[in-house]
Amino acid sequence: MSETKKVVRVEKYNGVTTVFLNRPEKRNAMSPALHEQMDQTLLELEGDPDTKIVIIRGEGGNFSAGQDLKEFFRGLEDNPAEAKRMQEIANRWRWERLYNYDKPTISMVEGYCVGGAFMQLLATDFAIAADTAQFSLSEVNWGILPGALVAKVVVDNVLFRHALYYSCLGDAFDGKEAARVGFINYSVPAEKLEDEVAKLADKLMKKSPAVLRATKQAVRQVRTMDFNQAYDYLHAKNMAIRVNDPEESYRTGLSQFIDKKSYKPVQGPFTL
Ligand code: ACO
Repeated sequence: MSETKKVVRVEKYNGVTTVFLNRPEKRNAMSPALHEQMDQTLLELEGDPDTKIVIIRGEGGNFSAGQDLKEFFRGLEDNPAEAKRMQEIANRWRWERLYNYDKPTISMVEGYCVGGAFMQLLATDFAIAADTAQFSLSEVNWGILPGALVAKVVVDNVLFRHALYYSCLGDAFDGKEAARVGFINYSVPAEKLEDEVAKLADKLMKKSPAVLRATKQAVRQVRTMDFNQAYDYLHAKNMAIRVNDPEESYRTGLSQFIDKKSYKPVQGPFTL
């Protein structure tokens, strides 16, 4: 590994933990060291009782310029064993770990979001960008196809025509276009981005953690199930929450609505 300094930075505040890709001088391009530190950091935060929500963003005004072409590609060319090990780590945090994460995750995108960074973008539960953010599937412009899982997760998330267009052209598009085609939830003026992400995190913090976790897992899992499997799985999952939920959400939510009349579910969650 050519780099040992800290290239991931963590900030914790009131249950919301922000993880910064921290190579601003390289537009947060992802080096082997960054992948190893991200993988380890996310693993630790998943078990951290002080972390309820994880925000992923980049230091210095850019989300990430994708894989580090010098260190991740050229630097590993002559060492296939290390290249394979690094690819596994890079894929693990950007996809399996985030996709199955026990806590809600938000991508906060400003500046560049390029190539391999679409994996963490699309693995997180929510994504909000600045109107001015610049997204690009630039692979075609320098000589590879959108590899690892990029092409797959892109076509799974946006309409086929958009996936083909942006993969084959590599053209940069802004936050408004990213929202229009479905890469992100919505975009806001750059100066409001931090506030919007904080607002979303705050709303998520007020939900029952067990119900929120089960909901995000269920929505992901039913994508690939047929109707009978989904009926069965969703019933079993609902039952599972009732026996493994410190908030006893089902009983508490019903009681606050029916007996105490203290809230209305359409207008917000019950009080934890
Ligand atoms: N890999 C390695 N180094 C990078 C990367 C990258 N992906 N992106 C930026 N850098 C480095 C530059 O080489 C430069 O380093 P230097 O100061 O040592 O010369 C530094 O970061 C700043 O980059 P600039 O190009 O000077 O910054 P600028 O703001 O003008 O442009 C931009 C930023 C548009 C992101 C440009 O750097 C770029 O096109 N980078 C390549 C992005 C890319 O195609 N990534 C790979 C996607 S494919 C994949 O991830 C599998």
